[in-house]
Amino acid sequence: MKLTKLFVSAFLVFGALGANAVDKAKMNQFVDNLMSQMTLQEKIGQLNLPVTGEIITGTAKSSDIAGKIKAGQVGGLFNLKGVDKIKEVQRIAVEQSRLHIPLIFGMDVIHGYETVFPIPFALSMSWDMDAIRNSARIAAVEATADGIAWTFSPMVDICREPRWGRMSEGSGEDPYLGSCIAQAMVQGYQGTDLAAANTMMACVKHFALYGAPEAGRDYNTVDMSHVRMFNEYFPPYKAAADAGAGSFMTSFNVVDYIPATGNRWLMTEVLRDMWGFDGFVVTDYTAISEMINHGMGDLQQVSALALNAGTDMDMVADGFVGTLEKSLAEGKVTMEAIDTACRRILEAKYKLGLFDDPYRYLDERRAKKELYTAENRAQARRLATETFVLLENSEGVLPLKKQGTIALVGPLANTRANMPGTWSVAATADRYSTLLEAMQRAVGKDATVLYAKGCNVCYDEELEKNSTLFGREMRDPRTPEQLRAEALRIAAHADVIVAAMGEPSEMSGESSSRSNIAILDAQRDLLEALKATGKPVVLLNFSGRTTDMTWEKQNFSTILNVWFGGSEAADAICDVVFGDVAPSGHLSASMPKNVGQVPIYYNHLNTGRPCPKWFTKFTSNYLDVDNEPLYPFGYGLSYTTFSYGQPTLSATSMTRDGSLRACVTVTNTGSREGAEVVQLYIRDLVGSVARPVKELKDFSRITLKPGESKVVEFVITPEKLKFYNSQLKFDCEPGEFDVMIGPNSRDVQTLRFTLR
Ligand code: BGC
Repeated sequence: MKLTKLFVSAFLVFGALGANAVDKAKMNQFVDNLMSQMTLQEKIGQLNLPVTGEIITGTAKSSDIAGKIKAGQVGGLFNLKGVDKIKEVQRIAVEQSRLHIPLIFGMDVIHGYETVFPIPFALSMSWDMDAIRNSARIAAVEATADGIAWTFSPMVDICREPRWGRMSEGSGEDPYLGSCIAQAMVQGYQGTDLAAANTMMACVKHFALYGAPEAGRDYNTVDMSHVRMFNEYFPPYKAAADAGAGSFMTSFNVVDYIPATGNRWLMTEVLRDMWGFDGFVVTDYTAISEMINHGMGDLQQVSALALNAGTDMDMVADGFVGTLEKSLAEGKVTMEAIDTACRRILEAKYKLGLFDDPYRYLDERRAKKELYTAENRAQARRLATETFVLLENSEGVLPLKKQGTIALVGPLANTRANMPGTWSVAATADRYSTLLEAMQRAVGKDATVLYAKGCNVCYDEELEKNSTLFGREMRDPRTPEQLRAEALRIAAHADVIVAAMGEPSEMSGESSSRSNIAILDAQRDLLEALKATGKPVVLLNFSGRTTDMTWEKQNFSTILNVWFGGSEAADAICDVVFGDVAPSGHLSASMPKNVGQVPIYYNHLNTGRPCPKWFTKFTSNYLDVDNEPLYPFGYGLSYTTFSYGQPTLSATSMTRDGSLRACVTVTNTGSREGAEVVQLYIRDLVGSVARPVKELKDFSRITLKPGESKVVEFVITPEKLKFYNSQLKFDCEPGEFDVMIGPNSRDVQTLRFTLR
């Protein structure tokens, strides 16, 4: 390893300092010294993040990128997997570029690495912050053991739009729950010392508002008021910035008609000036050049726009490397702006300890030992069981006994590649179990599991093809009649039918929007036929979004939503289906009755004409469906039951410098242990701007043995009553507030207090 003297002395002095302990003065001195040696081209090179491209298949040395790295035209690379390959590329940067500046290696480590945790949307159903933090911690340990120091996660876009496929990557519809999760994820990834070899830098995305595309179509226009942005969509981004996230990613969409990547108000005034974020901002994939399509000018213009907005690193568009030098000469950008962006990227590398040791994250021994370990898998399995939401179990069919004959049917019953869920770049699916394998393992010799696919994902071959990309194709060439007949044959021999239905994993995720979120035709026909057998049916619904389950609810008494549970999903599903673990997931998004109700969310405003009872003429309602969701935000059943006592408040009023305690006794009234999520909502009855009918302000996940009671206490502070008013001032206003406590956003008991 050849390093300049300057580096060596700096490493000796500062190498041991971690991110949170980083000595800013010394970092500045180090970066100043380094930048004083850099040419303009080398500075612009740091702002360039090309994709790995042909290195994945070929050798790094002979790649086109190698030449650019040697010339100092590359700041980092992403989605390259494996210590050997990454080391080879790092060596080019460190040994063959003029200033030996190490590259930063990023990846979409979204929900785990080789040990894959449930998709983020599913994780949010657990409401278990410790477990979520731990999932990010494990992801960081595995990814850093394999050479990755920077993850493009957490994705914290609030989403009330199930047509949008990327609902799967976020934490649902609620800003408070979303903020808690954003914070937990950043803490999990970054730990307390960013320079430690097993922590990695988070990249919060997609800033901002990507989760609100018109009509749910990916990349589409977003338009909303600033009051809504600040109160309902910005909180998780801000929480992640407050938690010390090292980087942010721009979103593809427009914000106030200016693409986020070129939006100075967003990237500088909000993110840096208001929130104090001091990391770096990377664009989303080709987001700079996409501004040409947005009608913002040619590549040179849009690149200058991005830099001047406060965007530091260009992912894949080649806009910065291609045009900034010219723009500087023409006075369209300043040297100061280029220096600032370059400095921020060098600082990130410094904080990660890459100047101390560019091979810090490239330890073959760790890669062999720390990936996909039994312990990590056990944790992923446990957490997956917490994410499943039991929607219906009115006849007590679940949990199943490990006896008799079980007919396992459905397009998701015997597929391996679909188990981890979308955006699992590092997954090695051939190691993961199918549900069929897991079920056979779970019952052993005690029961018989028969299997038939029963139907394809849908009748439309083209739709299925587009929904099963990336090697996840699963189409069966047999006719629908043949497939169904086989399923009915095995069902005839069974005591119970388990139907593994829903979306394949690539039917959600990026560029996977749907205009119809109801069950797919072929699956519905199969379910009808299974129902007609008269046998009990357990419906397992796989999905990456909230779907329209109205028909299923009308026809089936046992429904477990399993989303995509990660590498250990199949075993985790069996843990719950056979009752080793009781389900405890609670919805982080309202489930609509049909797509026409979308967007539907619990924390909506009142109208001037609220609907007292559906249907009432000249009130705010539909002719053909009521205003309630099929299942409300926060909803989820267990195998046991919980009762809530009468909640109490420690006082009926509080002052701006005081606080109140709200208490409720929750009792496990069933016959087995279970976990419950106790939820606290608040309504501000009169405000200077219209206030939501309720807002989640706190929650507590508790585990109770049969007969056991616990008093759950929530502290209500003025901070919890604050909101952004029309001047975007964050404050609370005196007046009356309703406090609501319950097991979901619908079934609450209400108390009132006054803020004086
Ligand atoms: C996605 C990002 C992702 C990036 C890099 C983009 O298409 O929108 O979420 O991090 O690609 O893979």
